[in-house]
Amino acid sequence: MDAKDPRKSRLAERTRLVHAGRDPSEQHGFVNTPIYRGSTVLYPSYEAIKTRNARYTYGTKGTPTTEALETAWSEISGAAGTVLTPSGLAAVALALMSCLKAGDHLLVTDSVYGPTRIFCDTVLKRFGVETEYYDPLLGEGIAALMRPNTAAVLTEAPGSQSFEMQDVPAIAAAARARGAVTLMDNTWATPLLFPPHERGVDLAIEAGTKYLSGGSDLLLGLVSANERCWPALRRTFDAYAMCAGPEDVFLALRGLRTMALRLKEHEAQALAMARWLGGRPEVARVLHPALPDDPGHAIWARDFKGSSGLFSVVLNPVPEVALAAFLDGLALFGMGYSWGGFESLVIPFDCSTYRTATRWAPEGPTLRFHIGFEDLADLQADLDEGFARMRAAAG
Ligand SMILES: Cc1ncc(COP(=O)(O)O)c(C=O)c1O
Repeated sequence: MDAKDPRKSRLAERTRLVHAGRDPSEQHGFVNTPIYRGSTVLYPSYEAIKTRNARYTYGTKGTPTTEALETAWSEISGAAGTVLTPSGLAAVALALMSCLKAGDHLLVTDSVYGPTRIFCDTVLKRFGVETEYYDPLLGEGIAALMRPNTAAVLTEAPGSQSFEMQDVPAIAAAARARGAVTLMDNTWATPLLFPPHERGVDLAIEAGTKYLSGGSDLLLGLVSANERCWPALRRTFDAYAMCAGPEDVFLALRGLRTMALRLKEHEAQALAMARWLGGRPEVARVLHPALPDDPGHAIWARDFKGSSGLFSVVLNPVPEVALAAFLDGLALFGMGYSWGGFESLVIPFDCSTYRTATRWAPEGPTLRFHIGFEDLADLQADLDEGFARMRAAAG
């Protein structure tokens, strides 16, 4: 379907995912936009090069391949525009740089993705931006922390590793009332499960490395912006030329077409696994906002259209040697960072080492799971054997 076809506006989301950013008539009829590689773009005349009057002007500014993903992402996010970056963390950094300057005060949720913290505490600090971490559960209470120079509030829901659910619409309303920009790391939900701009977010960050890829085979970031923040985001992107590689963008476009289906399967698998883990004697608590007894459930049910494949558990206290016995012998669960691929993963984590605004003191060791597409009974058998090893090692 032509990008400007008026029938587009009435299409359902899953239809949009198939068609967004794709115009076969521009690709000799081929279904997909090919990988355009290139730095130099040739101009047809002196006049054209003098005025830079061309659809594409230089490789860093965009190609048909990058434009296809930017357009598609803006369409499904309800954004005025999108830029692509070489990783999710680069997207966080670029989004922050687009709305901050020396002398500004930045509020960041204490539950934020760890490396985002490092960027704020090192780079932003050097450039004269003061970061203050806040309790992720503050909601509209964020207003009390805002100063005359508060320029931005960074949210992430649910929180990385610890899964606190934030009241993003309330935070965004409080920020907007004081002229501050709201950013959100929306990687867990993607725009399919949490439409960020509809909920008041100005700048939405997605680590495309996760669900957009779906294959654990690429690194990519996306920042989408509403009308208010789009001009500054695009200017900042052009100034940095922090552009993504064409093969990764191509793979992300391929992933986009199946993302809704994959997310549904991740949701079903993760919920079933979370419930099963919740019934295990070794597990003290499951941290998953889609479970009815989770403290963040009411907000999740109000604002989100579903859940994805990532959640955590707090185990009952066991010696470290027993935790190691559980993890070391797992046959199907891989132990490694990142998530969003087709495979199941588990990592141990400890937020107490970096939290500053809130205390993280769970009753036992904590594990984060990502549930992939393996057979659930096989995964449960793998964990069951792990728990047996854990009990034996605990003595
Ligand atoms: C919530 C969240 N945001 C951002 C990122 C960064 O993505 P990338 O690994 O592409 O830099 C991650 C990576 O794990 C993440 O979990």
